[in-house]
Amino acid sequence: MQDSIILGFDTSCDETSVAILKNGKEVLANVISSQIKQHAPFGGVVPELASRSHLENLDTVVDTALQKAGLKLSDITGIAVTASPGLIGCLLVGLSYAKSLAYTLGIPLTLVHHLKGHLFSPFLEFPEVFPFIGLVVSGGHTALYKVKDFETVESIGETVDDAAGEAYDKVAKLLNLGYPGGPVVDKLAQKGNDQKFKFTRARVKRGKNFFSFSGLKTQVLKVVMENNRKDVVSTNPSEDPFIVDLCASFQREVAETLVEKVAMVAQETGICNVLVSGGVAVNSRLRRNMTDLAQQQNLNIHLPKPINCTDNGAMIAYVGHHQLLKNSKTSLDANAYATRPLW
Ligand code: KG4
Ligand code: ZN
Repeated sequence: MQDSIILGFDTSCDETSVAILKNGKEVLANVISSQIKQHAPFGGVVPELASRSHLENLDTVVDTALQKAGLKLSDITGIAVTASPGLIGCLLVGLSYAKSLAYTLGIPLTLVHHLKGHLFSPFLEFPEVFPFIGLVVSGGHTALYKVKDFETVESIGETVDDAAGEAYDKVAKLLNLGYPGGPVVDKLAQKGNDQKFKFTRARVKRGKNFFSFSGLKTQVLKVVMENNRKDVVSTNPSEDPFIVDLCASFQREVAETLVEKVAMVAQETGICNVLVSGGVAVNSRLRRNMTDLAQQQNLNIHLPKPINCTDNGAMIAYVGHHQLLKNSKTSLDANAYATRPLW
């Protein structure tokens, strides 16, 4: 049988990501061109700038991926691309590029839902296990899924307001720590007292599997105001007790909230496999608390390495590989959507 060599694209936000996956297992290349430097002066992603950068970067990133894999374009057997959700201009750039390549090479194209990419990304490095509970925690989404197999994915909870990563980014902005907030808050939190500030956990009316992080952000703002730290730029945040303690306390609250829901869902469903993914899955405290939970409740928790947690093309190629096995090809008039339920 011919090898499956999938070229996977993700241009949903501020990273131009292209990967090559062989037979659904072997990542031959996973190239990510980050735009953080371009967006940092604005304190967040500027959509128009992001889509233009994707357009400028794609040729180079594809060439680099092919070089790393030691392959030519003619070796590619299928193309997978994120078509939703994400910034619409960014998605359209990736989708148009992928469509023209598929047309020129005469190979199948499949559209991948970005969250499905995250959800299954731990399988890039761990053996496939079903059923599992999936926690996707990224900058745009915080969601829980019950997954029976590749096709049977049930959404069982999500955030009703901010995503966990969004809360990190907003808290970092509030403390003048720069963008993106997750990595910097995580680093500072490791130096602080996580018991210094106590927060009230949100109880969400929509159901016990649902999350809410906007109230936590407001509570952090209240602490900042009460301590007269609004608009204060700390010259050395890592030596500033207020900053490190606040980061540590905020991080504890986020990690405990996420772990609490996973623990409850695992107990209720009796499913012992848990897959955690998305940019926030890189977080040191979340990983520690998840590992502790695994021991306490005898769970099999999969925490992928950072490159497989954050946005990357390999996770899109992986889902694309499985979709193409099921003959789930897309016609060239397919569109991209900024928001769309997981399919
Ligand atoms: O999955 P991702 O790369 O992109 C989206 O699909 O959103 O996630 C990006 C998010 C950002 O909000 C970023 O601040 C957060 O992941 N993040 C972290 C850490 N590293 C990245 N959050 C907490 N701790 C981290 N170490
Ligand atoms: Zn993502």
